[in-house]
Amino acid sequence: MKIGIASDHVGFELKPIIVDYLKELGYEVEDFGPQSSERTDYPKYGKRVADSVVTKEVDLGILICGTGVGISIAANKVKGIRAVVCSEPYTASLSKRHNNTNILAFGSRVIGSELAKMIVKEWLEAEFECGRHGNRVNMIGNIEENFEC
Ligand code: RB5
Repeated sequence: MKIGIASDHVGFELKPIIVDYLKELGYEVEDFGPQSSERTDYPKYGKRVADSVVTKEVDLGILICGTGVGISIAANKVKGIRAVVCSEPYTASLSKRHNNTNILAFGSRVIGSELAKMIVKEWLEAEFECGRHGNRVNMIGNIEENFEC
């Protein structure tokens, strides 16, 4: 399984720690930048990873900014993306099991690297339960198409 990852300048230092951890867990990783800690804008990195998920260049995405909020909002503007911001593992797990999230975001100003690793592992190992949750995820897709839910 291939994971796409990106950050902004605030999330930049945490990114390589998560990249190494993902490789340790056996995942293939594609780093969509940035390549330096120079001030940048989170929307373009949110979009890069979101695009790579919808085109299936990668299977899932991980995004890091100061809070995880801006970069996840940007990613959620891309059709087909269900990005969640998490600062604890329980929500991360349920967001995959019930909402089939395809991008995980968190904030480097909010959580430390060890908690981030726990969240990443819970999220990656959780599986979508489909069933009644599948209907609701389809309803979210209908909103994107301007259909009735
Ligand atoms: C950048 O200063 C900061 O706004 C960004 O990292 C993020 O927290 C936005 O949601």
